[in-house]
Amino acid sequence: MKIFKLLLLLIALALGTTATVMYSGIVNVAADEPHSDFVYWLLEETRNNSIKKAAQHIEVPNLEDAELLLMGGADYEFMCSSCHLKPGQSESDMSLGLYPAPPNLAVSNDEHKGHEHGDENQADRNNFWVIKHGIKASGMPAWGKTHDDQRIWAMVAFIKRLPTLSPEQYQILTAVE
Ligand code: HEC
Repeated sequence: MKIFKLLLLLIALALGTTATVMYSGIVNVAADEPHSDFVYWLLEETRNNSIKKAAQHIEVPNLEDAELLLMGGADYEFMCSSCHLKPGQSESDMSLGLYPAPPNLAVSNDEHKGHEHGDENQADRNNFWVIKHGIKASGMPAWGKTHDDQRIWAMVAFIKRLPTLSPEQYQILTAVE
């Protein structure tokens, strides 16, 4: 009986704390105020593990296909580069203003890419899943609502190459169509 009362008290306390946090307005939602390290870590871990789990069974097609690469380049330039930048560009209004900040996909970044688990396809799977479904409460849209899987794989193929492209090569690969 004593345990039961204690449990009720704890639940009431948790609900009370949640309600206070929600209704008092003490949480700052401004995009120009970063999260505390703890909240940042919490959100980042949650996001990374969620993506990894959701993407783990996705089958990766041949991403070396030249046609796929060209198709992805044009889409990237029009739909993604304003946030994710391009070779020779280090910032944009979007990349500076959004929080969480969109990663610069034109520079190589092996973080959370799955390499540490010895499965290099995991990075492609994760990217496909993120592009298709987007990420809640961030600026990353779900492109799968308006684009089929083939076009999304084309962008995955393109961003795989992107960090190796010079500004001139980027220009050529994104100019078609
Ligand atoms: C309005 C800005 C915006 C646009 C446009 C946008 N993204 Fe994003 N994207 C983001 C943000 C912000 C994140 C990071 C979200 C987070 O950290 O939770 C992100 C994350 C990603 C990631 C995950 C990267 C990683 O390593 O974690 C990929 C891949 C990605 N975007 C690809 C694309 C592609 C491809 C397009 C174009 C079809 C695109 N994005 C368009 C804002 C944008």
